[in-house]
Amino acid sequence: MCLCSCSFLGWVAFTLLTAALIVYLSPKGGGPVKFAGVYTQPGRYYWIKVVAFYLLMKIRKWKDARDKSKLKDHTNMDTYDSGYGTKSKNSPEEMDKVQPLSTHYQAIDAVYFNGANKDGFCIVTATARRPHGVINGFFIMTIPGVGTLVTPRFPDSLLFGGTDKVFEAEGLRFEPIVPMKHWKLNYSGELKLADDASKRFKVEFEADWKTTLPYFDYDTMIPPWTMARAIAKEPWSREYFEMLKAAHQTHYEQHGNITGTIKVGDKSYKFDIPSMRDHSYGFKREWKLLHRYMMHAFSTEDGRRFDTINVCQPLTSSHLELGYIYEKDGSLHPVEWLDLPLWNHGENGTLPSDYGFTFKANGKVHYVQVQVLHTIDFHIGWEWEAKITERHCRFVVDGVEGYGVSECHYRYAGGRPAEYAASDPEWVKDVKTH
Ligand SMILES: *[C@@H]1O[C@H](CO)[C@@H](O)[C@H](O)[C@H]1NC(C)=O
Ligand SMILES: *[C@@H]1O[C@H](CO)[C@@H](O)[C@H](O)[C@H]1NC(C)=O
Ligand SMILES: *[C@@H]1O[C@H](CO)[C@@H](O)[C@H](O)[C@H]1NC(C)=O
Repeated sequence: MCLCSCSFLGWVAFTLLTAALIVYLSPKGGGPVKFAGVYTQPGRYYWIKVVAFYLLMKIRKWKDARDKSKLKDHTNMDTYDSGYGTKSKNSPEEMDKVQPLSTHYQAIDAVYFNGANKDGFCIVTATARRPHGVINGFFIMTIPGVGTLVTPRFPDSLLFGGTDKVFEAEGLRFEPIVPMKHWKLNYSGELKLADDASKRFKVEFEADWKTTLPYFDYDTMIPPWTMARAIAKEPWSREYFEMLKAAHQTHYEQHGNITGTIKVGDKSYKFDIPSMRDHSYGFKREWKLLHRYMMHAFSTEDGRRFDTINVCQPLTSSHLELGYIYEKDGSLHPVEWLDLPLWNHGENGTLPSDYGFTFKANGKVHYVQVQVLHTIDFHIGWEWEAKITERHCRFVVDGVEGYGVSECHYRYAGGRPAEYAASDPEWVKDVKTH
């Protein structure tokens, strides 16, 4: 009896002392200081918040494991609630296909493919399905001896005439063949030279994206401590948690190979490129919420593959560290932390082209050196609200050479010039676009 209450009191004392110690060790006077006016720093209760959010994610996972039969496929994207430990769908087959759009005017279902190899080929192409058959889409390909070719509307990316059957518009077409294993990619039409828009070519691009590697699901595979550290830096309120839910998109990525041919004029080029692809869907995608991100997706000649992403979306998290690594045996491991502070890397709009960063995954710290070979800018959105820079890069990871793509984003406030809007279909002025 006595032993029992003693140990109870002991626990209470232990818990109180631990909490006091955490508060004592936490940074003082947190709150007002934000780096570059944007990046929130840990406040007084940081570590308590980290533990609380960690437990919240654990509980979400436990509940899902317990209520497995109740797991919904979220076919109604208006009542969508996944992420932070909860899966969006019951199976990979349900994930890796065209998704229904929500009723929000910024509804989203998007696929993206990139890759670069030692021979000098580099590709970045994407289609985001939006309401009214609008596609945010582009195709960029660097071919050795030819240069960098881009879609005719560049630097605009609003395409029209999409369907709810495949990801397609204006000659671009991406179709899932075997879920999480095989996609068919096509582009047929004109491309222009990025450095000299007066040079235009008739192009036929046909490729297979294939893989034997598993996919990385950001809804469930981000380490809970990594997510908790990011969320704990922000000021908490009821509105904050509602925002976290509303702004969340399911996002998964997978590495594989793109093989195929591209015919430019009457010349044909064959390629085999290590590649990263992704698929995102959710209630909405509001580019205006994002302040910045820097993504680096690459593979090294020893057979490892990587992606690291640093995202600043001030209303939800001003520094979210994301990513994963495939080891030589194909095993997949999440990034635990990523040391690439955005405010140290081009915060005022000039991206560095020679720099390095470190990250931890699978129990090891990796050191990455980046050398940017070529960059190209364009815009996404009715108001060009996102400025995207695609960068063809050489990487040296732990001393081993590799190639890949770095995609960087800035919020852009300059608007979409009237000359681009002039060729939009008539109906555009009657629908809600902002
Ligand atoms: C893809 O492109 C190839 C070559 O241009 C063409 O033969 C094929 O019909 C296209 N497939 C689709 C589905 O558009
Ligand atoms: C990519 O292709 C190479 C051969 O070119 C092959 O060895 C490798 O297994 C492929 N990788 C994947 C993920 O399918
Ligand atoms: C940011 O860049 C602009 C020019 O692009 C310059 O006018 C401004 O002073 C810069 N701000 C800082 C903080 O360096």
